[in-house]
Parts: sequence; structure tokens; C-alpha cells
Amino acid sequence: MADRKIIAVVGATGAQGGGLVRAIVSDPYKTFIARALTRDVNSDKAKALAKLGAEVVPADLDDVAGLTRAFTGVHGAFCLTNFWEHFSPEKEYAQAKRQAEAAKDVGVRHVIWSTLEDTRKWVPLSDNRMPTLMGKYKVPHFDAKGEVEQEFRKLGVPTTFLLTSFYWDNLINFGMGPKKGPDGTLLFTLPMGDKKLPGIAAEDIGICALAIFKEGETHIGKRVGIAGEHLSGEEMSATMTKVLGKPVRYNAVTPEQYRAFGFKGADDLGNMFQFNRDFSEEFCGARDLAVTRRLNPKLQTFEAWLTQNKSRIPLG
Ligand SMILES: NC(=O)c1ccc[n+]([C@@H]2O[C@H](COP(=O)([O-])OP(=O)(O)OC[C@H]3O[C@@H](n4cnc5c(N)ncnc54)[C@H](OP(=O)(O)O)[C@@H]3O)[C@@H](O)[C@H]2O)c1
Repeated sequence: MADRKIIAVVGATGAQGGGLVRAIVSDPYKTFIARALTRDVNSDKAKALAKLGAEVVPADLDDVAGLTRAFTGVHGAFCLTNFWEHFSPEKEYAQAKRQAEAAKDVGVRHVIWSTLEDTRKWVPLSDNRMPTLMGKYKVPHFDAKGEVEQEFRKLGVPTTFLLTSFYWDNLINFGMGPKKGPDGTLLFTLPMGDKKLPGIAAEDIGICALAIFKEGETHIGKRVGIAGEHLSGEEMSATMTKVLGKPVRYNAVTPEQYRAFGFKGADDLGNMFQFNRDFSEEFCGARDLAVTRRLNPKLQTFEAWLTQNKSRIPLG
């Protein structure tokens, strides 16, 4: 027990970090101890993690001193920001930079930064195929995550850049599930045309992250992209029809229509799907299914995930 290394997990009460904590505590080899970071050690989610055997410690991404304390003595740190809590790419950048600085300060041996592409490398601000948002972004919740990678590199923090994928859990939690159309048929709406979208069960991200920490050195300085499957809207709708036992039709809207849906972040997501669609080959190519399955041999397919979770999907 005494020589077991510690992994600090940012976002431990959330989807990605929670999956990692559960993977660490259920690892039959008990390779690591999970240190779960949270702003509220008394929340039900934090208490549930403590019950599973994680060390639960207070930390706030807006407080570098607290983060540094929480990273002290750890071997690895899983670093994450939650854009959707504040909708500010600048805040996301600052919070990620603080994590890099804290990791540098205390000499963390292996950091995983949960990242996404800086889409401006593919679609510069001058490119009018999609609108520029917030003055200097194309896909705000992607761009800052990709841009801030430079801070980890500049500081020489030994980092693996983990490119994640669209969570299928968005069908439950993010209002992206099929909804009744005017004739009562369930419609699954995506502005992806016939292109494939890499997706994953959110719980599988942490399992991959654990494998990366275990394999260590070989992944440092590298990008690792993960996905459970690459599926078109048509293919996802066909699987939903089969598993939900009700017809689900793919409703292929345009990115312009999606951006105009009007909910907070619709423009950001419309641009994201347009980027995913227009660079589908490269975007899917960066998320290798065989690599993901090697890291996580129990990787779920969309059908398996849906079968487990179908009762949780609101069919509006
Ligand atoms: N939805 C998708 O399909 C998808 C796909 C790829 C990437 N992402 C990215 O995933 C990120 C969110 O990760 P998630 O889905 O795992 O999160 P989540 O389930 O929404 O939970 C958010 C987590 O972030 C922690 N957190 C937020 N602000 C914090 C702060 N100031 N200090 C300390 N902890 C803080 C929360 O901890 P406490 O509340 O306990 O402090 C919580 O554990 C987003 O940036 C999003 O862009 C999402």
C-alpha cells in the first residue's frame, strides 16, 4: 500500500474524472491510489467517491495554491476544465494553465490533459465558412483546450494530450436525444450530413486514461485520440430504432439551422459539428478505434451503451 503511486483526478465528481476514479479503484492490480479533487468534499458525489476508496481533497481550478497542494506527492494528474460551467474560453485557458503550473511546481511525473482540437488551425478566423464567435474563436469549447497545450509544452510538463470524443451520454444529459417531430416520429437531429462522428461512452474515457498512466513513458509528449465508434447520424438512428424499439429518423439539418436553434451554446455546437463534418476523415483519423480498444478492451459500442442506458434517454 505504502508504495502505491497516487493519481490526482480533476473533475472527479464528473463524467471523465469520475470514470477514471472508478477505473483506478476497481483495478484488480491496484496500481494507483485515486486522489479525487473537488470544490465540495461534502457533496453526495464526493462522498460516494470516498466510499469507493478514493482520497477526496478540496481544490478549485481558480486557486493555484490549492491545486498545488492537491498535486503534491502525486505521480500523475488527470487535468480537465469544464467549459459548460462558464462558457468562457479565456477562463478555460487560465484554469488549464494553472493546472500545468501546479504540476510543474511539484514535479508531477505524468499529466494527462483532456483536450480537443484548436479548430482555427483548420478554419482560420478569416475563413467565412463558419462564423467567428466571441471575437477570436471558431469552436470556443474546443479552441482554448487545443491552444493551451502550448503551456504544458512550454513548462516542460510531461504530458499526454488526450483527444476525447462526443459522449453518447449527451443523448441523456445534454438534450441531444431523439425528439418527436410534427408527425410524432422520433427525430435524431445532427448537422453532420452523411459524415461519421467519433463517439464514446463517457465512462470509457477514464478507463483509457488509466491505461495511459499505467503504460506511462511511451505516451509522454504524444497525442492519443480515443473513440468507441465512428458513426453517421443515419447509423446512430438505425441503432436507436433497433434498441429503443421505436422508429428513429435521422434529421440532417444544416449547421446554419443548428446554430439558429437559439439555446445557449448552439452557435458553438453548430460550428463544432460543421468542423467534425468538414474534416471528418481527419477528425476520425485522430481517434483510432484499434488504439482505443487496446487501451480499453471492454470498450463499449454505441449499441452496447444504448442497451444499458435506454431507460435514461428522455424521448421528448
Ligand atoms: N459532452 C461531450 O460530449 C464532451 C466531449 C468531449 C469533451 N467534453 C469536455 O468535457 C469537459 C467537462 O468534463 P466532464 O463532462 O467530465 O465534466 P462534468 O461531468 O460536467 O463535471 C464537471 C467537473 O468539473 C469539475 N470542476 C468544474 N469547475 C471546477 C473548478 N473551478 N474547480 C475544480 N473542479 C471543477 C467539477 O467538480 P466539482 O463540482 O466537484 O468541484 C466536476 O467534477 C468540458 O470542458 C467539455 O468541453 C465534453
